[in-house]
Amino acid sequence: MDRTETLVADDSGVARAAALLRAGALVAFPTETVYGLGGDARNDTAVAHIFEAKGRPRFNPLIAHVADLDGAEVLAVFDPQARAIAQAFWPGPLTLVLPLRPEAGVSPLVTAGHETIAVRLPAHPLARALLRAFGGPLAAPSANPSGRVSPTRAEHVLAGLSGRIAAVLDGGPCAVGVESTILSLGPEPRLLRPGGIPAEVLEEALGRPLPLGGSETAPNAPGQLASHYAPGAAVRLGAHAAETGEILIGFGPVRGDLTLSATGDLVEAAASLFHILREADVLAGPEGRIAFAPVPERGLGRAINDRLRRAAAPR
Ligand code: TXA
Ligand code: MG
Repeated sequence: MDRTETLVADDSGVARAAALLRAGALVAFPTETVYGLGGDARNDTAVAHIFEAKGRPRFNPLIAHVADLDGAEVLAVFDPQARAIAQAFWPGPLTLVLPLRPEAGVSPLVTAGHETIAVRLPAHPLARALLRAFGGPLAAPSANPSGRVSPTRAEHVLAGLSGRIAAVLDGGPCAVGVESTILSLGPEPRLLRPGGIPAEVLEEALGRPLPLGGSETAPNAPGQLASHYAPGAAVRLGAHAAETGEILIGFGPVRGDLTLSATGDLVEAAASLFHILREADVLAGPEGRIAFAPVPERGLGRAINDRLRRAAAPR
């Protein structure tokens, strides 16, 4: 990729950032917590590029950032409790994990195939201006290479991701400096990540204690559950040809009934992965079997293989 553009914090910078995002490119932008690495949450390829730019070895679910409560309600189902919490704490450093609306239109890479979605309405004026100008949800993990410290200045973003993303919108230092608090709502609210809003404040608002960590419906680190993403059909990896009764998913030179990427492109493979798994599951049927061609263990291939090993794990 070409040089990463630094965009200034004015109307033209915001307009340029929104145009790049609409074209499927990645733009880092400031929030009140840390800089986020934004991509169109409805665009599979853009979201796959987020994982690639960060060098993330796993497809962890991402937070969908929205401009207002209406934008959030397009993505998630809000019950009265969720609406009350949103009204009390948004905009601000609080992320809510809520049931995903099936018609939300977000890439399954954003939710990592889950039926819940993490939604956040940031308070930073530039983030809000960008979300309004873009006009849709932005998936945005912290804008740092995987395993490194989260960036709180545009310079930090460039130090880690220069040349790997289209632009950074420079809004100066972030005020909060730690990521948002993640709260999973429902009959049993849980604190999934401590962050910018203290847990005690949320406990007070909810009128109940907040256990820390995940549950079956809102796992803390969903990717850790070995067979969580498993399709109904049994899965075999490293296949060069289909055995009797198998649906073969190809990659590169291995032609299948379906293919992750005929050209062996790992970004394309990541972008199509969750769709293909569903499609293959339907084709195979409950008693059927799915075989996957080998995917190289480099770049996004690591995250793809991590996901496939979970799908193939004994259950
Ligand atoms: O402050 C922040 O939240 C920053 C700024 C950029 O907004 N963003 C951020 O995103 O920290 P990220 O991707 O680094 O954090 C996402 C976290 C992960 O730990 C993930 O496990 C959790 O959110 N998460 C996302 N969707 C989830 C879901 N459906 N269920 C449970 N946890 C979820
Ligand atoms: Mg992070």
